[in-house]
Amino acid sequence: MHRRDRCALPLALGFALFALHVLLSETETTTPLDGRAHAPGGRARAAAGAPAPSLLPDARAGDELRFFVIGDWGAPRERTECKATQRLVARAMELVARRAGPAFVLSLGDAFYLNGVRSEHDGRLDEVFDETFAHAPSLAALPWLSVLGNHDCRGNVSALLRAGSRPRADAPGGSRAFVLPARHWAWAWRGAGDAGGGNGGHDAGRGGGARFAFVDTCSLVCAPGAEAFEEPSVLADVERVLREPARSAARRAALAAAEARWPPSASRPLGLNATLGRQSECRRMPARSRAAPRARDEQLAWLSEQLRAARAARAWSIVAGHSPIRSAGAGHGDYPQLLRALAPRLQAGGAHLYLAGDEHSLQHAHERGVHLLVLGAGGGLNLHPLQPAARAPRVRWAAAALGFASVRLSASRLALSVYTVSRSDGAGSVGRVLDDAGEPHTVRAAHGLVLERRADGSVEEVWR
Ligand SMILES: *[C@@H]1O[C@H](CO)[C@@H](O)[C@H](O)[C@H]1NC(C)=O
Ligand SMILES: *[C@@H]1O[C@H](CO)[C@@H](O)[C@H](O)[C@H]1NC(C)=O
Repeated sequence: MHRRDRCALPLALGFALFALHVLLSETETTTPLDGRAHAPGGRARAAAGAPAPSLLPDARAGDELRFFVIGDWGAPRERTECKATQRLVARAMELVARRAGPAFVLSLGDAFYLNGVRSEHDGRLDEVFDETFAHAPSLAALPWLSVLGNHDCRGNVSALLRAGSRPRADAPGGSRAFVLPARHWAWAWRGAGDAGGGNGGHDAGRGGGARFAFVDTCSLVCAPGAEAFEEPSVLADVERVLREPARSAARRAALAAAEARWPPSASRPLGLNATLGRQSECRRMPARSRAAPRARDEQLAWLSEQLRAARAARAWSIVAGHSPIRSAGAGHGDYPQLLRALAPRLQAGGAHLYLAGDEHSLQHAHERGVHLLVLGAGGGLNLHPLQPAARAPRVRWAAAALGFASVRLSASRLALSVYTVSRSDGAGSVGRVLDDAGEPHTVRAAHGLVLERRADGSVEEVWR
């Protein structure tokens, strides 16, 4: 499905701008964080189950933590037009990084289009990073805290986990620090102000930093049994289609018949396509990448534990996974497996943010206390258009644009800004970057979210 599409350079966009004064005052600064550099042998301390400490950002540095979020960014070798969009986003990140001083990059997966890596010595491991670092040198010395994307899961996941568990000062192209120690893993930032673990006791209302849970949506979506979350009658038709040999006349006929039975509707905006896309993607993954049902259940139990710990510590509770729970994009739409298995846990566990990619657009929805961000617009593959019904009430903002997010958080405040790279001018511009042909593109703070922690520990959204 993806192969037919193009990585076109972005055209002018006309979307609404939200709370820009907040965005602009919150995001820009010239003071980098303490401990932003991550030298091997540094002082950083790992959370439970985390890897070589030298790979991680300093968990005790600063009163503020700043990081970037990007997804779906590692363009395939053979797709020069996608490499061009990857580079354009890299230049935009560099522009913002010089002012925002991120301590790390949170990478939402699909760093290794189209088929992951073959072994831990696969040249792609360095290549995709070097391509970005050549245009975003400020990000080259940072850890890239990562999750598995579906395209990453098409390849050798154990090779990714090995490469993601060790420092790579030996990398020929520079100091790429790809961090992916396990299929799911956690990291906590406590900040310099906190003497103990959790809320430290010196000012319980201030909260205890931020806790990150990195989840593996390959197994949540594709582990055997997960297909049971699909609508049974649609799934049965999809199975009939996928049973026929790829590219055969029988496959085409079965597809046409199934599409006719499931035309797009309000409750199923992508018709048959969403289920078809998920099921055929799962079949592209080797069995090992999809994990066993038990591993999936263990992950969910582990996540509930992580959320409990974050809540007990009054920490910002941030969950990152590749596939979105909700999406108003035309690439994937909502994921029923995540709606049923993941969303209730995030809601009950008091997660503040669920950061996802997969859908190649930028979106913000809010549901039962959890802010759902889609940030899969890193330029590694074609952008996905938005569904015509992208104005659904829970979707606050969406743009089919290239971009990324920048987050800045302290004990009492979390501010997230979404940056777009497009041809249009206007409010929110923080500068311009050139594409490979020398054409200028505007980098804009296009959307934002600010949460504040009150003295009683409750969290409120502030818009003004
Ligand atoms: C996956 O990568 C690991 C580590 O490089 C290697 O030992 C293994 O043989 C690879 N598996 C396959 C199926 O290629
Ligand atoms: C389903 O996918 C096909 C092939 O990618 C595309 O042409 C068609 O427009 C899609 N239909 C919907 C409703 O998204």
